[in-house]
Amino acid sequence: MDRFVIRGGNRLEGTVGVEGSKNAALPIMAATLLCAGESTIHDVPNLRDIQMMADLLRYLGAGVSWEAGTLGVNATTATTVNVPETLMRRMRASNLVLGPLLARFGEVSISQPGGCNIGARPMDLHIRGLRALGATITERAGYITATATKLRGAEIHLDVPSVGATENLMMAAVLAEGQTVIRNAAKEPEIVDLQNFLNLLGARVKGAGTGVIRIQGVPGVHPAEHHIIPDRIDAGTHLVAAAITRGDVLVTNIIPEHVEPVIAKLREMGACVTVTDDGVRVRVDGRLRAVDVKTMPFPGFPTDMQPQMMALLTVADGASIVSETIFENRFKHVPELVRMGANIRIEGNTAVIRGVKDLIGAYVEATDLRAGAALVLAGLAAENTTVVEHVEHIDRGYAKLEEKYRMLGADIVRVSN
Ligand code: UD1
Repeated sequence: MDRFVIRGGNRLEGTVGVEGSKNAALPIMAATLLCAGESTIHDVPNLRDIQMMADLLRYLGAGVSWEAGTLGVNATTATTVNVPETLMRRMRASNLVLGPLLARFGEVSISQPGGCNIGARPMDLHIRGLRALGATITERAGYITATATKLRGAEIHLDVPSVGATENLMMAAVLAEGQTVIRNAAKEPEIVDLQNFLNLLGARVKGAGTGVIRIQGVPGVHPAEHHIIPDRIDAGTHLVAAAITRGDVLVTNIIPEHVEPVIAKLREMGACVTVTDDGVRVRVDGRLRAVDVKTMPFPGFPTDMQPQMMALLTVADGASIVSETIFENRFKHVPELVRMGANIRIEGNTAVIRGVKDLIGAYVEATDLRAGAALVLAGLAAENTTVVEHVEHIDRGYAKLEEKYRMLGADIVRVSN
């Protein structure tokens, strides 16, 4: 397994481009299962999570080609409707095939995803929504099985605006009879991208980006071609990398509105952030000020940026409070940051961070994707050498992160065992 060895202290300077969005690409890949024929998806990032979804589609029988960021999925022969535990365990987002397979074949069975490193992550909202659409669902021996002779449009109110449940229900409702209304739907940009793709397939979906999504069922859909939006978490991570190294970085291929919560916090901390036609530029000259951060569904501060932002707050001037309201177990990076000299105290879902002047390099472990990114950022700013173990977590969501930061002037190398 790979590790990153980082000699911190270099100021990042230059231009870095953002990859296509992982979390937009995953449901869109699943949505290709809605019909026979080959769909083409451009700007797909070269990531482990994407490879895993491609493997899952192949397991289901689809033909998948992938070259230079363009993915072809031919779902004509994708007729398997069971997802075994081995594939589900590799990636929770595998559950996104539930909606499209049920819609197309009237049956689907997936292994229960179970918990993960950041929390319990139940499936109850997906299941209740599918039941409202007329599916019969059984949960037995670790498997969720859904069947329906014909799905029927329904009014669904989500208890919490779950991204995955909104996506699964949108995809299931595409081929249902009549209109489906999803209330308290997730408003994330990835939901809008899914709506755009579904409509290219011939679906009739509107309202994505607001809390109410309406899907008018159609009898059938056809393949389509689509470009994935830029990844707002990849983008946000680079903005924070610039800030934590007191650098000067222009982040390109970015949709500024999608990273507004991060930009707002960086400005509040005293960073100079300018938005131009070319991208978003972050420049930091001195020490930044402490700020409070509370994670919320979009357009609030994203939980997927909380660990990276916390890394930045460990070296800010003053005390910050970070509240994590989305996942119950998303402070795994805290003990690792403490190993690097950070002063952090956790109480329930709140972390109190007292900024220190400098972090000091240490051996640390990436426990999940974004926690790993936070440790890389901390390592870039720390004195001496930081070794980040378990880079495989980071590779799930960042494409060659070390090469990008090296181009910006960082001293970071990947070491393989
Ligand atoms: C997606 C993202 C993930 C991000 C998260 C929140 C993908 C592939 N992953 O995950 O990176 O961190 O959104 O922005 O897009 N919940 C329930 N019951 C359910 C479903 C969810 O209680 O049936 C709860 C979860 O436990 C969690 C909250 O809802 O507390 C939000 O989860 P959700 O939005 O579903 O996250 P994911 O779609 O899994």
